[in-house]
This record gives sequence, C-alpha cells and structure tokens, in this order.
Amino acid sequence: MSEETLSNLSREERRFAPPEALAAEANVTADWYDKAAEDRVAFWAEQAGRLHWDQPWDRVLDWDDPPFAKWFVGGKLNASVNCVDRHVDAGRGDKVAFHWVGEPEDDARSITYAELKDEVCKAANALTELGVRTGDRVAIYMPMIPETVVTMLACARLGAPHTVVFGGFSADALASRIVDCEAHVVVTADGGYRRGAPSALKPAVDEAVAKSGDVVRKVLVVRRTGQDLGDAGWDDTRDVWWHDAVDSASAEHTPESFDSEHPLYVMYTSGTTGKPKGILHTTGGYLVGSAYTHWGIFDLKPETDVYWCTADIGWVTGHSYMVYGPLANGTTSVMYEGTPDSPHKGRWWEIIEKYGVTLFYTAPTAIRTFMKWGSDIPAKFDLSSLRLLGSVGEPINPEAYIWYRETIGAGQTPVVDTWWQTETGAIMISPLPGVTHGKPGSAMKAIPGVAADVVDDEGKPVPNGSGGFLVLTEPWPSMLRTLWGDDERFKDTYWSRFRSQGYYFAGDGAKKDDDGDIWLLGRVDDVMNVSGHRLSTTEIESALVSHPKVAEAAVVGAADEMTGQAVCAFVILRDEVVGDGGDNADIVAELRTHVAKEIGAIAKPRQIMIVPELPKTRSGKIMRRLLKDVAEDRQVGDVTTLADSTVMDLISSNLQGGK
Ligand code: WT7
Repeated sequence: MSEETLSNLSREERRFAPPEALAAEANVTADWYDKAAEDRVAFWAEQAGRLHWDQPWDRVLDWDDPPFAKWFVGGKLNASVNCVDRHVDAGRGDKVAFHWVGEPEDDARSITYAELKDEVCKAANALTELGVRTGDRVAIYMPMIPETVVTMLACARLGAPHTVVFGGFSADALASRIVDCEAHVVVTADGGYRRGAPSALKPAVDEAVAKSGDVVRKVLVVRRTGQDLGDAGWDDTRDVWWHDAVDSASAEHTPESFDSEHPLYVMYTSGTTGKPKGILHTTGGYLVGSAYTHWGIFDLKPETDVYWCTADIGWVTGHSYMVYGPLANGTTSVMYEGTPDSPHKGRWWEIIEKYGVTLFYTAPTAIRTFMKWGSDIPAKFDLSSLRLLGSVGEPINPEAYIWYRETIGAGQTPVVDTWWQTETGAIMISPLPGVTHGKPGSAMKAIPGVAADVVDDEGKPVPNGSGGFLVLTEPWPSMLRTLWGDDERFKDTYWSRFRSQGYYFAGDGAKKDDDGDIWLLGRVDDVMNVSGHRLSTTEIESALVSHPKVAEAAVVGAADEMTGQAVCAFVILRDEVVGDGGDNADIVAELRTHVAKEIGAIAKPRQIMIVPELPKTRSGKIMRRLLKDVAEDRQVGDVTTLADSTVMDLISSNLQGGK
C-alpha cells in the first residue's frame, strides 16, 4: 500500500458505536475477550459444545509436536450430521436451509433441512455406489446450485475429503488439483448460467480427466443447463448422470462417526511458487471454528435471521460461511447462482428485499462496483431488513466502508470487516457487532479465542502507531493441519519466518493504530489479491513463459481502483518473434488468452507490456518493486542495486514508444 494511502488511513477518524438494540441482545459480549484469554483452551472446549459429538474428546489441544496441531483429540463426530440430521432430529426439519435463487429469474426453490437431509443421504449412497470410500478424495467442479452443497455434505458424511475447484478455473488447473490429491471421482454439471447464457463445464472436466492419466474413474454429472455435450461429450463407462444415480438412490443412510482429526477437505490456494498449495482442514476443529465465528461475528439469531453470503462455493468463504458454519448453526441462507448485474444491476438488492435478508456478507470489490453503478440502484429497493453487513477478502477502503454503511445499511447498520485466510479456516480478526466501535478501514482486533499480533523483523511486537508483519501467536481449532502431501512446505511457508517464537506467519503486512487496533496493509510476499481472489505472481509468470513466443516474464500486482490489485505483466519476447515484424497487440491478446487457458480467466493480466529487458539485481533477482512503479505510473524508485541501471530507462522509453 502506498505512503499516501497509509497516511489517509491514519487520518480516518470516524467511529461508529454498535446499535443499542443489537448490543443489548448481542451473542458475544465484551467480557468474552478476557474470558477467552484467561484460559484459551477451556474457551474453545466450551465453543465445541455447539456441535453434536458422538464421542467426547479426551484432550482439547495436542500441541506436543508443533506446528502439527490436533484438536479435540479422541472426539468423534460426523460433519454432515452436525449440519443437517441433528436439526431434523430436533424437530426443525421444516425450516428452510437454503432459499436457492437461480440466475434465470423464474428459477428458484427453497430447500428445507429435511429435504437437504434426504438429498445428502441419496448422494452419499450414490457416491458409495460409484466406489467412494472413507478417505478417498472427490473433486467438485460445479456452478452455484444446491447439488454442490449436497455433494460436499455427502462427501463429509462418508469421510471422503472433497476438493472444490472454482468453476472459473481452467481444465489445466482442475487437472493439476485432481492429480495432486488423486481424486478418483469428479462431480460436475453440464454447465452453469453466466449472464443469461449457458456456460459449459463438462468439456473442461473431459479435458482435465484426459490430462490426469488414469486417476479419474467416474464423473458424476448434474444436468443444469441441458446443453448439447456433443458426440465426444459422454463416456458411457465413466460418466454418470446425477438424475440416474442420485434420484433413485435410497434416502436412508447411516452415518459413521469420524475422528475429530479426520480430513474434511482440501482447498487449493496460490502460494509464492507456481504450484498451488492444498490446504488441509480436518473435521472437529474446523467445524467448531466456522460455527462459533458465524454465530458470534454475524450475531446470528437462527430463529429469525436470513443470511446471505455472496461468495462462490469454490472459495474458502463459500465453505466456511455458506456451507459449514451456517448449516452447523441451523441457519436459513440465501444462495444465488448468478452475477450481480444479470438481468439488471439491482438483482442483489431485489433478492435482499424479496427474502428479507438480515445478515449480508460480501467483498469490497463488489461494493466498489456498486458504488460506481450509483446509489440510485439500491435506493429502489427496500433494504430495511438488513441488520448487519460483513466484508471479506481484502482491505476495505474507508470510502467503500462508508458507502456500504450509508447506502446499503441506511447509515445505521454495523459493518464487520473480517480478516482471515484459506489457511485459518475461519475469521480471526474482526469487530464484534455488539461490542466494537467500528473504524472504517480497520479489522480491529483478534476475536475472543484468537491471539494475533503485529511484529517486526525479529518477531518483537511493534508499538502502537507502527507497522510490521501480522502473526497469529497461539494455535486455533480451525487452523490448517498441513499442505496436502507436503509437510515440509507447510513448515517452511508458515512457521519458519518466526520459528523461535512459534508464530504463524500470515504473509500480510499490518499496522497497529494508537489504540492498538489492527489495519491490514496487503500481502508482503509474491501473492496478489485481485477482486479478493488470491493469485500468485510466480504462477502467472510460469504460465506466460510456457508460451512459445515468450522468453521471460515478470508479473506484479498494481493498485487498481475497482479490483484492489490488477495483474500487470512485463514480457520479453523470444528473438525470433521480435524480429518477425508481427504486431504486439496480437501477441498481447494471444498471451492473455494463454494465461486464461493455463490458469483461468481471473488470472488474465489487465496489462501486458512487451519490454526488451527486465530490471535485475546483480544476483539475477527481478526487482518487481521497480516494475510496480511503472505499472502504477509512478516515478521509478531507487535503481542503484540494479546490475544495469539503464534498464529502467530502456523499459520506460520502449513503453512510451509503444503507447
Ligand atoms: C488473504 C487471504 C478469507 C477469505 C477470502 C480470501 C486478504 C482477506 C481481508 C480483510 C484485509 C484481507 C489477506 C489474506 N484478506 N480478508 N478483511 N482485510 N485483507 O481468502 O484467498 O485465502 O486470501 O486475503 O491478504 O492473507 P484467501
């Protein structure tokens, strides 16, 4: 974040007290901070009481072999029973679990807990029939339809860890994930709807399966769009329609109890190298963390609230705050298939009005987009049901926070800015809606039960008013357990930076203000955050270099008003291409398409600059800081450590010439 933004942030002095009515009835009160800090382990044991355990644990936390944690050791439970069966057993089967809203306007249905239970049991039976056994991995590549939730819960019911791959990822990205965790079964759909038109998914699965050697044995396919799959689009020995396999399966399924540490899912996320990391979450601790935070930070009143999280299920937010947290708490949620502008730019607000949404959770990039579209659009709808607004994915700038609070929240609805990561499994830093005086732009402090700090290079806490690295100083139940198949990388990535202190290094820069509240300042590693999506500079660089016309590439995340950061690439072409007199504009277009094919459309560079050289230090390290200056249209900084200090001039003049 630039110096200017930093000083703007520290000038931000608006404060918002919690609404009195909310504070009076708040689920979590101020005394929880002390209560949790006095005996953190006992606090988490108390939170674990939110779940149904088939067998109680003998030990809350085993931290004998850090950084490998075990929580609720000896306890046994089934995640799908906790999310579904126990609500039905308690007589709440008629309660709506999801108001599902399809993209086509007349396509919507409400699913009760009893119906969800039947569907999950049928899918569990069908998956068993397809050969899925406890411990097997199942890949899920789906649009935002109820069957996606059903499949996740069916996997959880069988103790078969799922790995959901965002539907916007390419066939290559899907294949690498399938291979990395050896998923023998893939669940997908023929396609999904995207701005009114069907958009195919199955062909990407076919391509991914072909690229995965003989790993994949069965593909279970939901018919969503009914689009033509073509002659080559169906393999009778491998592909099975959902309506054939699941609809006819029995709705009776006896769940097994699994160890608290049984793997629940693997979620791939970008790291600082080209290879995505498979974040492993296990059953008991993860479910405790997601249920407690969903209940506490959203002040959930399950009897009356209608909750809507707009994330895609393909990201961790969709896992913790659309599926596991809300369902464990018996929540009624909205699930929406489409985009915010289809068929009109007021669709989200229309949905809030129609279903009386009370708790709403979205991302700053969406809020900034709505700001651009204009306040008159939400003004046409009745948003008075809202009583809490959440934000996640990237720092929310004060302007967007204020707009969110004023325009969507009628100037009185509290905003909770929640900081967490795929790795943390659940929210770690956030205001408490009934307690905290909110500051626009600050995620405030670690929630009760969590211990965070901002430290300097040596791992010493920085004084108030200073910046440093964000760390988590104590283990927490929903922490990642390892990286799938790679304990060493797990230790290296998160636990080596502050090894002597035993701190978890989050990879984010942060600052403590004069009150000691935390302001997140973005990543300090080679990870970019584009529209709240995590992308690795190295991964995009390798995608570019894999193109035959590219000799070398460097990628930086440049500040972008809408998306937070945007991908900017600097590319050196191979000599034979430079010489052939071709048009750079064509090559740039070709390279953007190539990145989309290798990784997914979200990774497409906003800008690709063809350059003759890249700035490197004497040891050959690319100085991305200087490239960032160019991408952000700033005066180029200190070039004295460059091996050849004229390179930046060469780049600048070359770009000017090309404009
Ligand atoms: C990274 C984690 C957590 C679900 C969505 C993203 C950034 C996330 C905030 C926030 C500032 C935030 C951080 C973090 N981030 N929430 N409220 N304020 N930054 O999950 O893909 O694992 O990305 O997103 O940089 O490290 P993710």
